[in-house]
Amino acid sequence: MNIYLETGRLLLRRLTLDDADHILDLDSDPEVVRFTGGGVTSREEVTESLFPPVFAWYEKYDSFGYWAAIEKSSNRFIGWFHFRPDQQAADIEDIELGYRLRQDAWGNGYATEGSRALVEKGFGELGVKRVYAHALIENFASIHVMEKSGLRYVKHFTETRIDPPGEAVQYALEIRDYVPPVDAG
Ligand SMILES: CC(C)(COP(=O)(O)OP(=O)(O)OC[C@H]1O[C@@H](n2cnc3c(N)ncnc32)[C@H](O)[C@@H]1OP(=O)(O)O)[C@@H](O)C(=O)NCCC(=O)NCCS
Repeated sequence: MNIYLETGRLLLRRLTLDDADHILDLDSDPEVVRFTGGGVTSREEVTESLFPPVFAWYEKYDSFGYWAAIEKSSNRFIGWFHFRPDQQAADIEDIELGYRLRQDAWGNGYATEGSRALVEKGFGELGVKRVYAHALIENFASIHVMEKSGLRYVKHFTETRIDPPGEAVQYALEIRDYVPPVDAG
């Protein structure tokens, strides 16, 4: 497996065509896509619509893009994280964090664990200067993950990447405000 990042309980690696059924299963759960839209109903939608832009990130960057999350204890796919520049701006110092996990993996601290590790890698190894994330104002779990990952409220705005557009918040963390974790070892 081509590991991008390892945490206490998770492995993050590139998504591959073999993940099509994992993504179909994830995105066909209405609860999972409740605040983002973009659900899918067929494997073809995954391989023909969702995967091309995801794989395009791997062509462009070694270290930014979408990362499948594998639960180490069970070796199962539990969702994904993204850690990438805005498509238009393509500024690799300003990185958007995102996450989507299977419902049966929620509530275990996985989104926070993966996010903290990505933030640490971004600031420590990848030359990132700011990490930001967006969520609809009613997506309390996502906003809570941002807060627990060290991001702080920046602004309200209208999220137009979803249909219909909705009121959203941006949270962010600048490298100058970042406190790296103390190594318990
Ligand atoms: C958002 C998401 C990734 C969180 O995953 P997770 O692994 O359960 O997150 P964590 O366990 O690390 O942390 C979630 C925190 O939010 C809290 N939380 C969960 N639901 C909540 C709610 N409705 N209101 C307030 N807090 C909530 C949890 O208690 C937890 O905080 P705690 O550790 O202090 O108790 C997951 O819910 C998900 O995949 N949702 C669907 C996709 C999505 O909306 N992604 C974000 C798009 S912006």
